[in-house]
Amino acid sequence: SAAEKGGWSSFMAKEISEQPEAVANTLLGRSADGAVHIPELDGLDDTLRGIERIVILGCGTAAYAGMIGKYAIEKWARIPVEVDLSHEFRYREPVIDERTLVLSISQSGETMDTLMAVKYAIEAGAKTISICNTQGATIARESDAVIYTHAGPEVAVASTKALVAQVTAVYLFGLHLARLRGTLGTAEASVLLAELQAVPAKLATVLEQHAEIRELAHWMSDTRSVLFLGRHVGYPVALEGALKLKELAYIHAEGFAAGELKHGPIALIEPGQPVFVVVPSPRGADSLHPKVVSNIQEIRARGARVLAIAEAGDASVLPYADKVFTIPPASAFFEPLLAFAPLQIFAMELAAAKGLDVDQPRNLAKSVTVE
Ligand code: AGP
Repeated sequence: SAAEKGGWSSFMAKEISEQPEAVANTLLGRSADGAVHIPELDGLDDTLRGIERIVILGCGTAAYAGMIGKYAIEKWARIPVEVDLSHEFRYREPVIDERTLVLSISQSGETMDTLMAVKYAIEAGAKTISICNTQGATIARESDAVIYTHAGPEVAVASTKALVAQVTAVYLFGLHLARLRGTLGTAEASVLLAELQAVPAKLATVLEQHAEIRELAHWMSDTRSVLFLGRHVGYPVALEGALKLKELAYIHAEGFAAGELKHGPIALIEPGQPVFVVVPSPRGADSLHPKVVSNIQEIRARGARVLAIAEAGDASVLPYADKVFTIPPASAFFEPLLAFAPLQIFAMELAAAKGLDVDQPRNLAKSVTVE
Protein backbone atom coordinates (compact mmCIF):
# COMPACT_ATOMS: atom_id res chain seq x y z
CA SER A 1 0.00 0.00 0.00
CA ALA A 2 0.96 3.66 -0.32
CA ALA A 3 1.45 3.90 3.46
CA GLU A 4 3.89 1.00 3.45
CA LYS A 5 5.89 2.79 0.76
CA GLY A 6 6.18 5.80 3.06
CA GLY A 7 5.14 8.24 0.36
CA TRP A 8 7.49 6.85 -2.28
CA SER A 9 6.23 5.62 -5.64
CA SER A 10 7.69 2.16 -5.09
CA PHE A 11 9.36 0.03 -2.46
CA MET A 12 12.52 0.26 -4.51
CA ALA A 13 12.52 4.07 -4.36
CA LYS A 14 11.93 3.91 -0.61
CA GLU A 15 14.69 1.35 -0.10
CA ILE A 16 17.19 3.37 -2.15
CA SER A 17 16.44 6.33 0.12
CA GLU A 18 17.08 4.15 3.19
CA GLN A 19 20.65 3.31 2.19
CA PRO A 20 22.43 5.79 4.48
CA GLU A 21 20.63 4.22 7.48
CA ALA A 22 21.33 0.71 6.18
CA VAL A 23 25.06 1.45 6.32
CA ALA A 24 24.86 3.30 9.65
CA ASN A 25 22.84 0.53 11.31
CA THR A 26 25.20 -2.15 10.04
CA LEU A 27 28.12 -0.28 11.62
CA LEU A 28 26.38 0.08 14.97
CA GLY A 29 27.98 -1.69 17.92
CA ARG A 30 30.83 -3.12 15.86
CA SER A 31 33.73 -0.89 16.81
CA ALA A 32 35.34 0.71 19.84
CA ASP A 33 38.21 3.18 20.15
CA GLY A 34 38.83 3.30 16.43
CA ALA A 35 39.06 -0.49 16.01
CA VAL A 36 36.58 -2.90 14.49
CA HIS A 37 35.29 -5.63 16.74
CA ILE A 38 32.35 -7.76 15.58
CA PRO A 39 30.88 -9.28 18.76
CA GLU A 40 29.14 -12.03 16.76
CA LEU A 41 32.57 -13.43 15.91
CA ASP A 42 33.73 -13.73 19.52
CA GLY A 43 34.87 -17.27 20.07
CA LEU A 44 36.22 -17.59 16.54
CA ASP A 45 39.49 -15.71 17.13
CA ASP A 46 41.72 -18.79 16.89
CA THR A 47 39.84 -20.06 13.87
CA LEU A 48 40.17 -16.73 12.09
CA ARG A 49 43.89 -16.55 12.89
CA GLY A 50 44.40 -20.07 11.57
CA ILE A 51 42.54 -20.02 8.26
CA GLU A 52 44.63 -20.10 5.11
CA ARG A 53 42.10 -19.00 2.59
CA ILE A 54 38.62 -17.60 2.19
CA VAL A 55 35.97 -18.51 -0.34
CA ILE A 56 33.14 -16.00 -0.67
CA LEU A 57 29.85 -17.29 -2.08
CA GLY A 58 26.67 -15.64 -3.26
CA CYS A 59 24.41 -15.14 -6.26
CA GLY A 60 23.58 -12.04 -8.27
CA THR A 61 24.00 -8.80 -6.40
CA ALA A 62 25.24 -10.59 -3.28
CA ALA A 63 28.08 -12.09 -5.35
CA TYR A 64 29.10 -8.57 -6.42
CA ALA A 65 29.30 -7.58 -2.75
CA GLY A 66 31.57 -10.62 -2.44
CA MET A 67 33.81 -9.47 -5.27
CA ILE A 68 34.26 -6.13 -3.54
CA GLY A 69 34.99 -8.00 -0.32
CA LYS A 70 37.80 -9.92 -2.01
CA TYR A 71 39.66 -6.72 -2.89
CA ALA A 72 39.33 -5.42 0.65
CA ILE A 73 40.11 -8.62 2.57
CA GLU A 74 43.18 -9.41 0.46
CA LYS A 75 44.48 -5.87 0.85
CA TRP A 76 43.80 -5.48 4.56
CA ALA A 77 44.09 -9.01 5.97
CA ARG A 78 46.51 -10.51 3.41
CA ILE A 79 44.62 -13.79 3.02
CA PRO A 80 43.92 -15.27 -0.41
CA VAL A 81 40.25 -14.84 -1.26
CA GLU A 82 38.30 -16.49 -4.02
CA VAL A 83 34.78 -15.45 -4.98
CA ASP A 84 32.41 -17.86 -6.58
CA LEU A 85 28.80 -18.01 -7.62
CA SER A 86 27.17 -20.49 -5.25
CA HIS A 87 25.80 -22.64 -8.08
CA GLU A 88 29.16 -22.84 -9.84
CA PHE A 89 30.88 -23.72 -6.58
CA ARG A 90 28.60 -26.53 -5.53
CA TYR A 91 28.67 -28.47 -8.78
CA ARG A 92 32.39 -28.63 -9.39
CA GLU A 93 33.88 -30.42 -6.40
CA PRO A 94 35.79 -27.40 -5.13
CA VAL A 95 38.94 -27.96 -3.05
CA ILE A 96 38.21 -26.82 0.49
CA ASP A 97 39.16 -28.10 3.92
CA GLU A 98 39.14 -27.16 7.60
CA ARG A 99 41.59 -24.33 6.97
CA THR A 100 39.18 -22.71 4.51
CA LEU A 101 36.65 -20.15 5.65
CA VAL A 102 33.52 -20.02 3.53
CA LEU A 103 31.86 -16.62 3.80
CA SER A 104 28.39 -16.64 2.29
CA ILE A 105 26.47 -13.49 1.46
CA SER A 106 22.69 -13.52 1.11
CA GLN A 107 20.04 -10.90 1.78
CA SER A 108 17.27 -13.45 2.28
CA GLY A 109 19.40 -16.17 3.80
CA GLU A 110 17.14 -18.60 1.93
CA THR A 111 18.68 -18.73 -1.56
CA MET A 112 18.77 -22.45 -2.37
CA ASP A 113 22.00 -22.35 -4.37
CA THR A 114 23.84 -20.56 -1.57
CA LEU A 115 22.34 -22.75 1.14
CA MET A 116 23.41 -25.93 -0.69
CA ALA A 117 26.89 -24.51 -1.25
CA VAL A 118 27.22 -23.72 2.46
CA LYS A 119 26.09 -27.27 3.31
CA TYR A 120 28.70 -28.66 0.93
CA ALA A 121 31.34 -26.53 2.68
CA ILE A 122 30.26 -27.75 6.12
CA GLU A 123 30.50 -31.36 4.98
CA ALA A 124 34.00 -30.70 3.65
CA GLY A 125 34.98 -29.44 7.11
CA ALA A 126 35.26 -25.74 6.26
CA LYS A 127 34.41 -23.02 8.75
CA THR A 128 31.37 -20.98 7.73
CA ILE A 129 30.31 -17.42 8.39
CA SER A 130 27.31 -15.83 6.72
CA ILE A 131 26.45 -12.23 6.01
CA CYS A 132 22.67 -12.15 6.07
CA ASN A 133 19.89 -9.56 6.29
CA THR A 134 17.12 -11.77 7.62
CA GLN A 135 17.07 -12.75 11.30
CA GLY A 136 16.99 -16.49 11.84
CA ALA A 137 17.23 -17.38 8.13
CA THR A 138 18.27 -20.91 7.18
CA ILE A 139 21.77 -20.00 5.93
CA ALA A 140 22.40 -18.02 9.11
CA ARG A 141 21.35 -20.98 11.23
CA GLU A 142 23.54 -23.42 9.31
CA SER A 143 26.68 -21.27 9.64
CA ASP A 144 29.20 -21.24 12.49
CA ALA A 145 28.55 -17.50 12.90
CA VAL A 146 26.49 -14.79 11.26
CA ILE A 147 27.17 -11.11 10.70
CA TYR A 148 23.73 -9.59 10.25
CA THR A 149 23.33 -6.64 7.94
CA HIS A 150 20.83 -4.27 9.50
CA ALA A 151 19.30 -2.88 6.33
CA GLY A 152 15.75 -3.64 7.49
CA PRO A 153 13.31 -5.66 5.39
CA GLU A 154 13.91 -5.34 1.64
CA VAL A 155 10.67 -5.78 -0.32
CA ALA A 156 11.53 -4.78 -3.89
CA VAL A 157 12.91 -7.64 -5.97
CA ALA A 158 15.92 -5.54 -6.94
CA SER A 159 18.42 -5.47 -4.12
CA THR A 160 19.58 -1.96 -3.15
CA LYS A 161 19.95 -1.16 0.53
CA ALA A 162 20.88 -4.77 1.30
CA LEU A 163 23.85 -4.46 -1.05
CA VAL A 164 25.36 -1.40 0.64
CA ALA A 165 24.83 -3.12 3.97
CA GLN A 166 26.57 -6.26 2.64
CA VAL A 167 29.57 -4.25 1.45
CA THR A 168 29.68 -2.52 4.84
CA ALA A 169 29.58 -5.88 6.62
CA VAL A 170 32.27 -7.45 4.46
CA TYR A 171 34.51 -4.41 5.07
CA LEU A 172 33.92 -4.70 8.81
CA PHE A 173 34.84 -8.36 8.52
CA GLY A 174 38.05 -7.47 6.62
CA LEU A 175 39.04 -4.98 9.32
CA HIS A 176 38.16 -7.44 12.11
CA LEU A 177 40.34 -10.05 10.46
CA ALA A 178 43.19 -7.57 9.89
CA ARG A 179 43.15 -6.71 13.60
CA LEU A 180 43.28 -10.37 14.62
CA ARG A 181 46.05 -11.16 12.18
CA GLY A 182 48.02 -7.96 12.78
CA THR A 183 48.19 -7.05 9.11
CA LEU A 184 47.21 -3.39 9.41
CA GLY A 185 48.67 -0.72 11.66
CA THR A 186 46.20 0.59 14.24
CA ALA A 187 46.39 4.10 12.78
CA GLU A 188 45.73 2.86 9.27
CA ALA A 189 42.86 0.67 10.45
CA SER A 190 41.25 3.52 12.33
CA VAL A 191 41.45 5.78 9.26
CA LEU A 192 39.65 3.09 7.22
CA LEU A 193 37.00 2.71 9.91
CA ALA A 194 36.50 6.48 10.00
CA GLU A 195 36.01 6.48 6.22
CA LEU A 196 33.41 3.75 6.55
CA GLN A 197 31.65 5.74 9.26
CA ALA A 198 31.60 8.79 6.99
CA VAL A 199 29.73 6.90 4.24
CA PRO A 200 26.12 7.47 5.43
CA ALA A 201 26.38 11.28 5.31
CA LYS A 202 28.14 11.18 1.93
CA LEU A 203 25.61 8.75 0.51
CA ALA A 204 22.79 11.08 1.54
CA THR A 205 24.29 13.81 -0.67
CA VAL A 206 24.56 11.40 -3.64
CA LEU A 207 20.81 10.71 -3.36
CA GLU A 208 20.15 14.43 -3.87
CA GLN A 209 20.94 13.93 -7.58
CA HIS A 210 17.81 11.82 -8.04
CA ALA A 211 15.94 14.33 -10.22
CA GLU A 212 18.93 14.83 -12.49
CA ILE A 213 19.37 11.07 -12.93
CA ARG A 214 15.65 10.67 -13.62
CA GLU A 215 15.93 13.25 -16.37
CA LEU A 216 18.73 11.30 -18.06
CA ALA A 217 16.82 8.01 -17.68
CA HIS A 218 13.69 9.47 -19.25
CA TRP A 219 15.71 10.91 -22.07
CA MET A 220 17.27 7.48 -22.69
CA SER A 221 14.06 5.47 -22.39
CA ASP A 222 14.30 3.98 -25.89
CA THR A 223 17.91 2.87 -25.48
CA ARG A 224 18.55 -0.73 -26.58
CA SER A 225 21.93 -1.39 -24.98
CA VAL A 226 24.06 0.14 -22.25
CA LEU A 227 27.61 -0.80 -21.24
CA PHE A 228 29.25 -0.26 -17.85
CA LEU A 229 32.98 -0.04 -17.14
CA GLY A 230 35.00 0.01 -13.96
CA ARG A 231 38.31 -1.10 -12.49
CA HIS A 232 39.24 -2.63 -9.13
CA VAL A 233 36.21 -2.28 -6.82
CA GLY A 234 34.59 -0.22 -9.58
CA TYR A 235 34.39 -3.39 -11.69
CA PRO A 236 31.72 -5.08 -9.54
CA VAL A 237 29.95 -1.71 -9.47
CA ALA A 238 29.82 -1.88 -13.29
CA LEU A 239 28.48 -5.44 -13.13
CA GLU A 240 25.80 -4.35 -10.67
CA GLY A 241 24.80 -1.36 -12.83
CA ALA A 242 24.28 -3.73 -15.75
CA LEU A 243 22.32 -6.27 -13.68
CA LYS A 244 19.97 -3.59 -12.38
CA LEU A 245 19.25 -2.35 -15.89
CA LYS A 246 18.56 -5.87 -17.17
CA GLU A 247 16.30 -6.89 -14.34
CA LEU A 248 14.30 -3.66 -14.06
CA ALA A 249 14.24 -2.09 -17.52
CA TYR A 250 14.72 -5.25 -19.64
CA ILE A 251 17.52 -3.55 -21.56
CA HIS A 252 20.57 -5.39 -22.78
CA ALA A 253 23.42 -4.32 -20.54
CA GLU A 254 26.90 -5.60 -19.82
CA GLY A 255 29.51 -4.67 -17.27
CA PHE A 256 33.22 -4.98 -18.04
CA ALA A 257 36.50 -4.54 -16.25
CA ALA A 258 37.78 -1.45 -18.09
CA GLY A 259 41.16 -3.14 -18.61
CA GLU A 260 39.41 -5.81 -20.72
CA LEU A 261 38.25 -3.29 -23.33
CA LYS A 262 40.99 -3.96 -25.83
CA HIS A 263 40.72 -7.70 -25.28
CA GLY A 264 37.35 -7.69 -27.02
CA PRO A 265 34.55 -5.47 -25.75
CA ILE A 266 35.81 -2.30 -27.44
CA ALA A 267 34.58 -3.83 -30.71
CA LEU A 268 31.06 -3.13 -29.43
CA ILE A 269 31.63 0.61 -29.33
CA GLU A 270 29.94 2.46 -32.16
CA PRO A 271 28.74 6.04 -32.42
CA GLY A 272 26.06 6.80 -29.84
CA GLN A 273 26.65 3.71 -27.65
CA PRO A 274 25.97 4.77 -24.06
CA VAL A 275 28.68 3.71 -21.62
CA PHE A 276 28.61 4.34 -17.89
CA VAL A 277 32.11 4.63 -16.47
CA VAL A 278 32.90 4.40 -12.76
CA VAL A 279 35.84 6.78 -12.35
CA PRO A 280 38.07 6.31 -9.30
CA SER A 281 39.26 9.21 -7.21
CA PRO A 282 42.27 11.02 -8.70
CA ARG A 283 43.81 11.28 -5.24
CA GLY A 284 46.06 8.62 -3.75
CA ALA A 285 49.43 7.35 -4.92
CA ASP A 286 48.09 4.11 -6.37
CA SER A 287 44.97 5.64 -7.92
CA LEU A 288 43.77 3.97 -11.12
CA HIS A 289 42.29 7.27 -12.25
CA PRO A 290 44.73 7.79 -15.17
CA LYS A 291 43.99 4.29 -16.48
CA VAL A 292 40.26 4.89 -16.43
CA VAL A 293 40.60 8.31 -18.07
CA SER A 294 42.57 6.72 -20.88
CA ASN A 295 39.84 4.06 -21.25
CA ILE A 296 37.32 6.89 -21.52
CA GLN A 297 39.39 8.54 -24.24
CA GLU A 298 39.55 5.25 -26.17
CA ILE A 299 35.79 4.73 -26.21
CA ARG A 300 35.06 8.38 -26.75
CA ALA A 301 37.29 8.38 -29.84
CA ARG A 302 35.00 5.65 -31.22
CA GLY A 303 31.86 7.66 -30.62
CA ALA A 304 30.66 6.34 -27.25
CA ARG A 305 28.32 8.50 -25.21
CA VAL A 306 30.12 8.63 -21.87
CA LEU A 307 28.14 8.82 -18.65
CA ALA A 308 30.64 9.19 -15.84
CA ILE A 309 30.34 8.69 -12.11
CA ALA A 310 33.25 10.69 -10.75
CA GLU A 311 34.47 12.41 -7.65
CA ALA A 312 33.13 15.93 -7.12
CA GLY A 313 35.77 18.39 -8.28
CA ASP A 314 37.42 15.95 -10.72
CA ALA A 315 37.57 18.17 -13.81
CA SER A 316 39.64 15.75 -15.87
CA VAL A 317 36.67 13.74 -17.13
CA LEU A 318 34.54 16.75 -18.08
CA PRO A 319 35.96 17.17 -21.60
CA TYR A 320 35.11 13.57 -22.47
CA ALA A 321 31.83 12.95 -20.69
CA ASP A 322 28.32 13.70 -21.92
CA LYS A 323 27.09 13.60 -18.37
CA VAL A 324 28.79 13.40 -14.97
CA PHE A 325 27.19 12.32 -11.73
CA THR A 326 29.32 13.18 -8.76
CA ILE A 327 30.14 11.38 -5.55
CA PRO A 328 31.82 13.07 -2.58
CA PRO A 329 35.57 12.49 -2.18
CA ALA A 330 36.35 9.07 -0.72
CA SER A 331 39.33 6.76 -1.04
CA ALA A 332 39.12 3.87 -3.50
CA PHE A 333 37.49 1.25 -1.28
CA PHE A 334 34.63 3.52 -0.23
CA GLU A 335 33.61 4.65 -3.71
CA PRO A 336 31.36 1.64 -4.46
CA LEU A 337 29.22 2.49 -1.46
CA LEU A 338 28.59 5.88 -3.07
CA ALA A 339 28.54 4.87 -6.74
CA PHE A 340 25.81 2.19 -6.63
CA ALA A 341 23.02 4.67 -5.94
CA PRO A 342 23.18 6.64 -9.22
CA LEU A 343 23.10 3.35 -11.17
CA GLN A 344 20.18 2.00 -9.12
CA ILE A 345 18.24 5.22 -9.61
CA PHE A 346 19.03 5.22 -13.32
CA ALA A 347 17.71 1.67 -13.82
CA MET A 348 14.64 2.30 -11.66
CA GLU A 349 13.73 5.55 -13.43
CA LEU A 350 14.32 4.08 -16.87
CA ALA A 351 11.99 1.19 -15.98
CA ALA A 352 9.44 3.67 -14.64
CA ALA A 353 9.70 5.71 -17.85
CA LYS A 354 8.86 2.54 -19.79
CA GLY A 355 5.82 2.02 -17.57
CA LEU A 356 7.24 -1.11 -15.93
CA ASP A 357 6.64 -2.38 -12.40
CA VAL A 358 9.93 -1.64 -10.68
CA ASP A 359 9.13 -3.62 -7.54
CA GLN A 360 8.10 -6.81 -9.35
CA PRO A 361 10.04 -7.23 -12.59
CA ARG A 362 8.84 -10.01 -14.87
CA ASN A 363 10.11 -13.56 -14.35
CA LEU A 364 11.90 -12.76 -11.08
CA ALA A 365 11.31 -13.70 -7.44
CA LYS A 366 12.68 -11.86 -4.42
CA SER A 367 14.17 -14.99 -3.00
CA VAL A 368 15.17 -17.89 -5.23
CA THR A 369 14.38 -20.87 -3.04
CA VAL A 370 14.35 -23.37 -5.90
CA GLU A 371 17.00 -24.31 -8.44
C1 AGP B 1 19.34 -8.41 -7.15
O1 AGP B 1 18.78 -7.24 -7.57
C2 AGP B 1 18.67 -9.65 -7.49
N1 AGP B 1 17.28 -9.63 -7.58
C3 AGP B 1 19.36 -10.96 -7.19
O2 AGP B 1 20.53 -10.97 -7.96
C4 AGP B 1 19.72 -11.30 -5.72
O3 AGP B 1 20.72 -10.44 -5.26
C5 AGP B 1 20.15 -12.77 -5.65
O4 AGP B 1 19.08 -13.59 -6.05
C6 AGP B 1 20.64 -13.19 -4.28
O5 AGP B 1 19.63 -13.12 -3.31
P1 AGP B 1 19.99 -13.28 -1.79
O6 AGP B 1 20.87 -12.14 -1.42
O7 AGP B 1 18.68 -13.24 -1.07
O8 AGP B 1 20.70 -14.59 -1.63
